[in-house]
Amino acid sequence: MSSDLIQVKNLVKRFEKVMAVDDVTFSIKPGESLGLVGESGSGKSTLARLILKLTKPTSGEIKYNNLENIRKDCQIVFQDPQTSLNPRIRIGEAIGEPLLINKLLAKKEIPKRAAELLEMVKLPASYARRFPHELSGGERQRVGIARALASSPKFLVLDEPVSSLDVSIQVDILKLLKKIKQELGLTYLFIAHDLSVIGFICDRVAVMQNGKISEIGQQSQIFDHPQSPYTQKLLSSVLSI
Ligand SMILES: Nc1ncnc2c1ncn2[C@@H]1O[C@H](COP(=O)(O)OP(=O)(O)OP(=O)(O)O)[C@@H](O)[C@H]1O
Ligand SMILES: [Mg+2]
Repeated sequence: MSSDLIQVKNLVKRFEKVMAVDDVTFSIKPGESLGLVGESGSGKSTLARLILKLTKPTSGEIKYNNLENIRKDCQIVFQDPQTSLNPRIRIGEAIGEPLLINKLLAKKEIPKRAAELLEMVKLPASYARRFPHELSGGERQRVGIARALASSPKFLVLDEPVSSLDVSIQVDILKLLKKIKQELGLTYLFIAHDLSVIGFICDRVAVMQNGKISEIGQQSQIFDHPQSPYTQKLLSSVLSI
C-alpha cells in the first residue's frame, strides 16, 4: 500500500525523434495541488495526457491508488474554453455529455445534474439553455470546470486553465478552483507558466525541462531556494516582469 494517489515511474513518451517525456518519476499525494511549470514544448501537456490515459507511454508505468475508473475519476480542464466547447451545443448538454458518453447517468437525469454543476461554478441554472457564444470567456471557463466535475472525479488536471483570460477574471477562477478543491477534496495537477498562479494554488512544484523533471519540491523550497540554473532563470524572468 502506498499513500500516493498517483505514482509515475520511469515514464517515457517519444514522438518520432522527440522525447516529449523522458524518464520521468514522481508521485502525487491525495489532496495535494502539484504545480507543473516549464517552457513551451517541455512536455507538460504530454505528461498530463499520459496520466489521463489519453495517450500510451512508450515505456514506464503509472500506478493509480483509489482511482478505479480513470475515465470517471480523472478529468481535465483545458486552457481555452472557446475551442473545447462545441459552438452548436447548449451549455446544459455540453456539461452532461461526458456523463452520457460514459453511461454514468440516464438522459432524463442530466438537466438536474447540469443545474447542480452550474451552481457549483457560480453560474445561473438558466445558462443551461445558452450557447457558448452567449457567455463571456470567464463564464465559458466556469462551464469547462463544471463539465470536468460532472463525473465526480477525484483528480483534476488543469492545463493552463486561466492563461487565456483577463487578469481580473483569472483571480476569480483561481479562487473558485481553490474553493472547489477544498469542498470536494480533490487532487490537482496544475500546469501553468505564470509562477504567481502556481504560488496561489499549489503546495508542491515540479519543473519540467526537455521532457525531464529537473526539480521538484515544496513551493517555498522551489521559489526561495531554486536548485537548478533553469529554475533560477525561470524565477528571475518572472521577477523582472
Ligand atoms: N501528437 C504529437 N505528435 C508529435 N509530437 C508531439 C505531439 N504532441 C506533442 N509533441 C511534441 O512533444 C513535445 C512536448 O509537447 P507538449 O505539448 O507536451 O509541451 P508543453 O510543455 O505542454 O508545451 P506548451 O507550454 O506550449 O503547452 C514538443 O516538442 C511537441 O512538439
Ligand atoms: Mg501544453
